[in-house]
Amino acid sequence: MKKPFSSDDSEALYGNRFLTEDAPAGDFPDGGMSALDAMRLVDEELALEGDPQRNLATFVTTWMEPEAQRIIAENLYRNFIDHAEYPISAEIEQRCIRMLADLYHAPGETTGARTQGSSEAIMLGALSLKWKWKQRREAAGKPVDRPNLIFGGDVHVVWDKFCRYFDVEPKIVPLQEGKYTIGPEDVQPLVDENTIGVAAVLGTTFTGHADDIVGINRLLVELKNEQGLDVPLHIDGASGGFVWPFLYPDSEWDFRLEQVRSINVSGHKFGLVYPGIGWLVFREKSDLAEDLVFYENYLGKTDATFTLNFSTGASMVLAQYYNFVRYGREGYAYIMKAMQQNARFLAERLEATGNFELIGADHEQLPLVAFKLAGDKNYDEFDLSWQLSAERGWMLPAYTMPPNAEDVRVLRALVKQTLSREQIDRLADDIVEACATLEKKGGAHASERKKMKTSPGY
Ligand SMILES: Cc1ncc(COP(=O)(O)O)c(C=O)c1O
Repeated sequence: MKKPFSSDDSEALYGNRFLTEDAPAGDFPDGGMSALDAMRLVDEELALEGDPQRNLATFVTTWMEPEAQRIIAENLYRNFIDHAEYPISAEIEQRCIRMLADLYHAPGETTGARTQGSSEAIMLGALSLKWKWKQRREAAGKPVDRPNLIFGGDVHVVWDKFCRYFDVEPKIVPLQEGKYTIGPEDVQPLVDENTIGVAAVLGTTFTGHADDIVGINRLLVELKNEQGLDVPLHIDGASGGFVWPFLYPDSEWDFRLEQVRSINVSGHKFGLVYPGIGWLVFREKSDLAEDLVFYENYLGKTDATFTLNFSTGASMVLAQYYNFVRYGREGYAYIMKAMQQNARFLAERLEATGNFELIGADHEQLPLVAFKLAGDKNYDEFDLSWQLSAERGWMLPAYTMPPNAEDVRVLRALVKQTLSREQIDRLADDIVEACATLEKKGGAHASERKKMKTSPGY
């Protein structure tokens, strides 16, 4: 006699358990499930996340070529730190560092590290600044208990984190309305013998502009020559490090400038690699404090490590190398220029509405549009961001600028490689529509405002 179907059989035949059951979310599961069920469970949940194509907030790469994806998928098992087992991956990391050092005009042989992103690269670079300062002070018989680091309010939060985690006093230059980057006039009053370094940003998270790096370098060279105070400059090129060399090759911000001793860049932003890769490059080998390098031989070969993590995947290093050889200077320049042209097109469309004021569109800038509402309106930038998301699903971040420019509200649209001219046209139309809705109904309700996100994204 045929066995009647149980409800379990029906689930297996027509659907899956999680059509009618909650997902395991608290207790460690007693039993397992089929591979198909597990895959569907995860896939279906993820389907409700944000759509990267409509996300104008993130700097991080959301698309790579199929060939790059294949390299990533085929090498996921490789533990990057295991140099004994995977010496070729280690050599490929070194190639990437040499190529970046070349791109950034390092004067000779240098050193650096692959990191998880710019945050790790900044922690390591700033630790090296602290250690080198300590060595200089100890050699001169001076106290080492009050290190400070100078940067502007335009930096990413990672710089404050570094200072708190590693006990360094942050000397922060406040921003002002209309002045969203810093220059030598801001740095000069803050420098003293306890300054471990100055951090300048190439492509800020807030408006995409660069600090006056040439001016800050000039000041630091003068201080060195006139007062014997040797203060190094670190460049946070998280975003700009892959933009400036291709869009503004004659603009000096890198090792062409004497006091620039280290640079960080995110491979996973304009380096065009998926998340999980950043780079730290020193001007010269001697800029890396030797005390921070550890030698270990657990994995069958003595290796020097200079990282905050140990085991990690090699795939993104390989993917970065893939991009370097695939695109070269010419390919990166083509992609960056295409994004810049599209950003300018969006900027023109927005300006033509008469509703918006662009922020620093005539300065060197990342391929993005930073803008705010012009004139008096019965709604603000947060309302527009909210309305656009409700009507068309675009994620266009609105945020307030850091102190002392916190009264300025900004909207920022990243124009990435995946955003075509046609899509930008639609985006501009959708922004116009959202403004028209807000004109009629006024700003968002207080209950909606509570749900709004107010950070610049990543
Ligand atoms: C200027 C700047 N520095 C540092 C970071 C941190 O980089 P990551 O996300 O690669 O750790 C960011 C991220 O947006 C950034 O824009």
